[in-house]
This record gives sequence, structure tokens and C-alpha cells, in this order.
Amino acid sequence: MKQFLTINDLSNFEVGIEEAITLKKNPYNHKKFGKNKTLGMLFFNPSLRTRMSTQKAAKNMGVNTMIINLSNEAWEIEFEDGTQMNGLRSEHIKEAAAVVSQYCDIIAVRAFASLNNKENDEAEQVLNNFAKYASIPVINMESATAHPLQALADAMTIIEHKNKKRPKIVLTWAPHPKALPHAVSNSFTRMVQKIDAEFIIAQPEGYELNPKITKGIPVYHNQRDAMEGADFVYAKNWCSYIDYGKILRTDNQWMLTAEKLKVTNNAKFMHCLPIRRNIVVSDDVLDNPNSLVIKQANNRTFAAQLVLKKILENG
Ligand code: CP
Repeated sequence: MKQFLTINDLSNFEVGIEEAITLKKNPYNHKKFGKNKTLGMLFFNPSLRTRMSTQKAAKNMGVNTMIINLSNEAWEIEFEDGTQMNGLRSEHIKEAAAVVSQYCDIIAVRAFASLNNKENDEAEQVLNNFAKYASIPVINMESATAHPLQALADAMTIIEHKNKKRPKIVLTWAPHPKALPHAVSNSFTRMVQKIDAEFIIAQPEGYELNPKITKGIPVYHNQRDAMEGADFVYAKNWCSYIDYGKILRTDNQWMLTAEKLKVTNNAKFMHCLPIRRNIVVSDDVLDNPNSLVIKQANNRTFAAQLVLKKILENG
């Protein structure tokens, strides 16, 4: 694998997921790949899981890590070409990416959507400029439109916990006081189409995701109908894509509760975390044994380890 910007960079997806599950059983078997290698982890946004699990994955692979919070520890980066840099931005991506490429063997980048410039977000301005100007492989640790490491971990979790060949999976929108990006929902949607599953998206009107990503997927505006007989329910908030970055409703009608989940097939509950209790879902969902959220977070390590292994194997 030359880079990991989207889950499409992992060829033969289902085999890859099985390999990640195998890595989890013997995580220290591949340290030879990481000898004298350095992963540079660049964060424009906060993180708990991605930062710790990717660092742990690197350690498991014998890879050294260098971590920097670019939002407050380094020079602000200019991404536009041909600008006169007389504002706050002191360093151009051309130099920044080239310099980091000398210190590291792989770069991992976290850069969320701005949610106020749809064109730049859709173009993945930050991630793609790192990929363009770095001379080493780039890993996406959540970008404006995708969170492929999360989707890999979610796929592992579904494969590990499904009790039928073709489970019914529902991605349901849930409330949130802040405008959140589409990255997790986009990558989850792309991922589910690569595994054997029946898939439905449930969301209020106006919260349609990018139609290029949801093409052909049934969309329900009634959460209860969507969840009937579901084996997995994945809750996630996202802001409006059409009315880009906007919050269209603030009521709690779509908050997931144990009562609402009674129509499912004793569904397992999933969420990428962090999650706001009693806003997105009620305590009785998160504290129920059917909640997989902690297991999902654990699988982030082995998803990252798979990606590192594939890139390091490629030389
Ligand atoms: N799910 C996830 O990416 O968590 P963090 O934002 O804490 O990394």
C-alpha cells in the first residue's frame, strides 16, 4: 500500500479485515518491519483514540513516533498556491511537507472539515496537499470527508460480533449541540458496502449525506421503521451537507434509547466516540452489554497496525 487516504486504498478489503483480526491475536510479531522507521503524527484537531491507538500500533510494529499539535505547537500553514504570505500563516505546505518527509518515513495527518468552506473541504485541501508535497506515504487520521481508520476498526468489530452471514446494519443520525463533520458517516457508509450486509441510513429530512456516497442505499426518515430487526445500530451526528455546516434541529426526538432499540434484533450498539451521553444516546444504551463502543476503540489499534504493516511491507 502506497498511502491510506480512504478505505479504497486497502485492496481486497475483506481479506484485510481478517488480517487485522489476526494481527490483534499476535500484535508483536511484525516488529522487524518498523526497525529504524519513524511515523510523524500531525494533529490539526484534538484526539484521544486516534492519537493513542496509532501510537500504540506504531510501537507494536517497532516504529518510532513523533507527534505534533499543529494547531498550537508549530507555524500556521498556508495551503493556497501563489499567495503573498503577509497574514498569520508563516509556513507554506510545500516546505512543511518536504521538511517533515526528511525526518519521518510515514506521515499521518488529522485535519477536520472547516464546515464553512465546502469547496475546500470536498477537495480535502489539507490532506491532499500533504499527499501532494510529501515524498513519503501519508495516512489519513480523519480528514474533512473521511475517517478510514475508524471504518476499518468498525468493520473488524462487526465481523467479530455478527451472528449471521448478512446482518442488518442501520446508521442513524442522532442529535448534537455542535455542527459535526460527515467524515465518520461517509467512511462507515463506504465500508459497509464492502462487506456482506443489509444497510439502511435513518436521518431526518435535510440531513442527506453526499449523494455520491449514499447512491443506491435506502434512506428512511422514520428511525423506528429503519431499526426494525436490525442487528447493529450505529449512531452518529452530522451537520447538514446540503445547507453546508448548519444544524437544522435541536430537539431530542432522534436520541437513541433502550426503549427505541426494542424493535431491533437485540442489536449491538456502535459509535466512534467521543459521545455526549443523554444527547446522542441515553445512558441505558451505552451502559448495556450490547454496546460495542469500547471494543471499537480497542480495534483502532489493530486497524492502524494493519495500515502501517501494509505501507511498510511496500518498502
Ligand atoms: N473516534 C475517534 O477518532 O476518536 P478521537 O477523535 O478521540 O481520535
